Amino acid sequence: MSLNVSNLTVHHGAICAVSRVSIAVPTGKLAAIIGANGAGKTTLLRTLSGLKTPTNGSIMWKGEKIAGIKPEALVRRGISHVSEGKSVIPELTVRENLELGAI
Ligand SMILES: Nc1ncnc2c1ncn2[C@@H]1O[C@H](COP(=O)(O)OP(=O)(O)O)[C@@H](O)[C@H]1O
Ligand SMILES: [Mg+2]
Repeated sequence: MSLNVSNLTVHHGAICAVSRVSIAVPTGKLAAIIGANGAGKTTLLRTLSGLKTPTNGSIMWKGEKIAGIKPEALVRRGISHVSEGKSVIPELTVRENLELGAI
């Protein structure tokens, strides 16, 4: 299993944005998170990429606990966050925008 998220809870102050989420993604598989606006998708992904600290639960990546590791260290381990909306650079192609996440 590449990614194993267990019982993950994430707050924005008093707001609980992610509540006890568990996901397992096997090596070589793709996963998509879908949900209504405000359901907590971005918060979940920002937590996986180290941009947000979880309140509770664990994140295992390739067998190693990664909650609390800084985003720049996670990029070197193969996890990066490619943002949407205003963070997309319009002068670059879709491919180039995605590749930025790997730098
Ligand atoms: N920086 C923030 N400060 C306070 N509340 C936030 C913040 N970011 C998101 N939220 C709240 O957390 C919940 C989940 O938001 P978000 O993760 O952006 O959902 P999604 O990406 O699924 O639309 C929403 O109730 C949203 O209002
Ligand atoms: Mg979002």
